Amino acid sequence: MERTIVLLLVGAGMALSGAAAAAESADPCLGCHAKRDPGIVNGWMASQHHRMEVGCLDCHGADPKDADAFKHNGHTIAIIVSPADCAQCHEKEVDEQKGSHHAKAGQILGSLDNLLGEVVGGPAAVTAGCRQCHGSRVKVDARGRPTWDTWPNTGMGRINPDGSLGSCSACHARHEFSAAQARQPEACGKCHLGPDHPQMEVWEESKHGVLYRANREKMNLDKDAWVAGKDYHSGPTCASCHMSAGGRQGVTHDVGERISWTLRPPVSTKLNMVVYEDLSKEDINGEAPALPAAGSTVRTGSGDKKVARTMSWRERRGAMQDLCRQCHEPSFVDGAYRQFDDVVALYNDKFAKPAKAIMDDLRGGGRITGADFDDPIEWTWYELWHHEGRRARHGAAMQGPDYAWWHGLYEVSKHFYEKFIPQIKQVAGEALAQELLERHVYSQPGHQWHRDGMSREQLEKVRKFYEERYQQ
Ligand code: HEC
Ligand code: HEC
Ligand code: HEC
Ligand code: HEC
Ligand code: HEC
Ligand code: HEC
Ligand code: HEC
Ligand code: HEC
Repeated sequence: MERTIVLLLVGAGMALSGAAAAAESADPCLGCHAKRDPGIVNGWMASQHHRMEVGCLDCHGADPKDADAFKHNGHTIAIIVSPADCAQCHEKEVDEQKGSHHAKAGQILGSLDNLLGEVVGGPAAVTAGCRQCHGSRVKVDARGRPTWDTWPNTGMGRINPDGSLGSCSACHARHEFSAAQARQPEACGKCHLGPDHPQMEVWEESKHGVLYRANREKMNLDKDAWVAGKDYHSGPTCASCHMSAGGRQGVTHDVGERISWTLRPPVSTKLNMVVYEDLSKEDINGEAPALPAAGSTVRTGSGDKKVARTMSWRERRGAMQDLCRQCHEPSFVDGAYRQFDDVVALYNDKFAKPAKAIMDDLRGGGRITGADFDDPIEWTWYELWHHEGRRARHGAAMQGPDYAWWHGLYEVSKHFYEKFIPQIKQVAGEALAQELLERHVYSQPGHQWHRDGMSREQLEKVRKFYEERYQQ
């Protein structure tokens, strides 16, 4: 950030020099582009960059050796502006982003979802769908221009021609590159919504979302430092909890730093973070795994690495709770976390583990093929964990009751009993199905109603309720 400091001093000394110098740096570009695409130039004019004399060439200027460099009206430029380019002036943000899951979001080729997109759907859907959220691998043609099938794209883990990962304009839309814009939930809502990860919808229905909409004008979104509890006391946004400052927490560009569970896989586990000296990071799953000591060397998939620091799931959770405590008492925060943990345990133990064990047995015993998505039961199981089970967990994590229950555990239960169990019988036959169900499902008291029927007390309670309430 040395350069920033110099610029700030210049700016403070001579009020007009910043804009004048920016105009000079942008000068070789403005003449044409102000006419060709005034939206781009006006966006830049409205930005902090313009005020701080960061011009077009500071970002678009390229080395002739770059894969995507081309000659353009007397200058060598590139269209793609990658995190490595922003790092010239924003090293801290880029260093934090580098090791995050966001930076890795483009590496999904081996996943089940990718098989679904490429084979069951088709490549066009992957280009206009998956990769617009996850990021493409940007390819350039012989003229150094990105190819149409890999760009436009501001996917989160975009793989850039210079090898860097990510796209800063995934959240900071160009050419304003504004912090205030990225603090708003819509910045995240392009990707974090829909049937399999409805964080946006969950947040919208939460009291936090309700209060944000009611008080948006009083949230001081434009402040330089935006500190929870001080600069605003109402509805926190996605950024408030996952990125912005509050309590002892500074701003972080690693959105994973404050989460303690992974709510994505079939069965949720706790996450412990190892940060290496090269700034890459790794999650180690489990309640209390042995974490390597700071300073020790660890063998990883990409060679030996020295450990800089670790963050256990408790420390990660502690960081998030520190934020909550700027607006709530610790007992309130603990209560909210216990309600959340309880839903994760219910989903994991009652539904996910038994269903997964049965799927493993069916596959192991050759009752379903090794290929995914060619048996109806595989679709049921996929939606159970990937859609419905995630919705339940996300609803509970972020105070969305409708997602915790109606779009969540209600759907999980309904499809577990009314689709999954009948399909086990179809593929395994009645006898083996009974054996699997006894072993994995009915051994749990919570499932016995399904085999034995509801108890007399349970039925009587329901009858009485309707009688008293509706005289029916
Ligand atoms: C003489 C007029 C002129 C000047 C000066 C000029 N441009 Fe352009 N620019 C164009 C035209 C015309 C195009 C579209 C044709 C092309 O891609 O070359 C273009 C295209 C571009 C593109 C590619 C957009 C795309 O999606 O293909 C970028 C990026 C760009 N200019 C940036 C700059 C920058 C940065 C400067 C300043 C160094 C600059 N231009 C100066 C006329 C100009
Ligand atoms: C802070 C860095 C930054 C500055 C300053 C900047 N740009 Fe860009 N520009 C970007 C980024 C990021 C993109 C998106 C490219 C990508 O996907 O990586 C972009 C894209 C573009 C494009 C292609 C996008 C389209 O919609 O067609 C043009 C043309 C362009 N910039 C012109 C300019 C001009 C002219 C200026 C100066 C007035 C300028 N830029 C200043 C970062 C910058
Ligand atoms: C609307 C944006 C969007 C689209 C479209 C999308 N994803 Fe995702 N995907 C996400 C988000 C956001 C997450 C993280 C969800 C979470 O943390 O709850 C995610 C998670 C994943 C994960 C899990 C990653 C991990 O580390 O556990 C995989 C794999 C994946 N997506 C692959 C795909 C594939 C393949 C497609 C297309 C067939 C696709 N996604 C379409 C936004 C999207
Ligand atoms: C996931 C969304 C997201 C992405 C991606 C993102 N940012 Fe940010 N960025 C934010 C938010 C939110 C803030 C405001 C933090 C706060 O409340 O102060 C911010 C603030 C900033 C600031 C202002 C300084 C500060 O700490 O407030 C800079 C500079 C910045 N980002 C640079 C970058 C760069 C460079 C990249 C690409 C490596 C990037 N950002 C990618 C969301 C994002
Ligand atoms: C030549 C230096 C330089 C480059 C390159 C540069 N920036 Fe900046 N940027 C600055 C300066 C100076 C400021 C104002 C001081 C600050 O907030 O750090 C700033 C401010 C910002 C802010 C905060 C704006 C606000 O609303 O407060 C964001 C976000 C940002 N830059 C993102 C980016 C991104 C993303 C890139 C790459 C696409 C980039 N910058 C490239 C110098 C640069
Ligand atoms: C009040 C604070 C708060 C707000 C606001 C909030 N979150 Fe969260 N978020 C959490 C907590 C708490 C968790 C679970 C943390 C844990 O695992 O310990 C979480 C988990 C997540 C996860 C991880 C899910 C997974 O599958 O593992 C994602 C992604 C996420 N939030 C995105 C968002 C987005 C996007 C928004 C805005 C639409 C948002 N959050 C708003 C607190 C918040
Ligand atoms: C362009 C799409 C996109 C946008 C915008 C976006 N995300 Fe994400 N996010 C993803 C994807 C994809 C993943 C899953 C990455 C993976 O693990 O492969 C993800 C993962 C996450 C996670 C889980 C991190 C972890 O370590 O497991 C959190 C939390 C999160 N995002 C929060 C946010 C917040 C907060 C914002 C807005 C400030 C935001 N995201 C904006 C696509 C996006
Ligand atoms: C910027 C302040 C702020 C932050 C940060 C914040 N909250 Fe809140 N939260 C509020 C306000 C204000 C309410 C509304 C209280 C009410 O119900 O009247 C609220 C309500 C709640 C509720 C009650 C929901 C309901 O529907 O009744 C829960 C639970 C909650 N927050 C948990 C959390 C957790 C957990 C965190 C951290 C992950 C957190 N909050 C962070 C301000 C905040």
